[in-house]
Amino acid sequence: MPKYYHYFRAGIATKPPILMFHGTGGYEDELAPLAQQLAPGSPLLGIRGRLTEQGRTRYFAHTPDGHFDLTSLANETTWLMTAIDELAAKYKLAVARMIVVGYSNGANIATHAWLTQQAKFKTGILFHPMQLTDYQPIPDLNEIKVWASYGSLDPIVTATNFAALTQTLTTAHADLTVFKAEQSHALSPQELAAAKNWLQASQ
Ligand code: MLT
Repeated sequence: MPKYYHYFRAGIATKPPILMFHGTGGYEDELAPLAQQLAPGSPLLGIRGRLTEQGRTRYFAHTPDGHFDLTSLANETTWLMTAIDELAAKYKLAVARMIVVGYSNGANIATHAWLTQQAKFKTGILFHPMQLTDYQPIPDLNEIKVWASYGSLDPIVTATNFAALTQTLTTAHADLTVFKAEQSHALSPQELAAAKNWLQASQ
């Protein structure tokens, strides 16, 4: 068994590497076509969450009564940040230049890594993220640039939760851009186009 189930595709060394975190039930290479569309030519690194629930891969667990398991979240965030460091060293990628592209469960752990000050990556595209817990004190994320999408018909991310997340990131002084649309939890062509425009403008 490999130490980290991961996917790497070399790209143009001057372009920022894209770090891919899949949604629940996804895999390390799941977001590669999308990442390639968002950032043509960038090196791609995807890391698979090491947990499974009901046969579906995840980055952190739920408790038996269905809440987010904050102990698992803490352990897995540490594990994932170590995995990034080791794989970045292996493939000669600069972690600080990485742009994280996360969907759902993957977007959630990326956000958690920022809000607990464990992340070295500074830019992110988060598709349908949510706030997993209360962050006190709220850290200073003034170096962080983040684009986040929300669907008003999403049965997983509530309006209240997304508002709490945007409030937290704003209080943390992150440079936040929000995309809202009448859509559900799945990705839409409109949000991909908006994310791509944002990335091009922010580089
Ligand atoms: C989570 O468990 O992280 C969220 O509910 C999103 C998802 O379903 O993956």
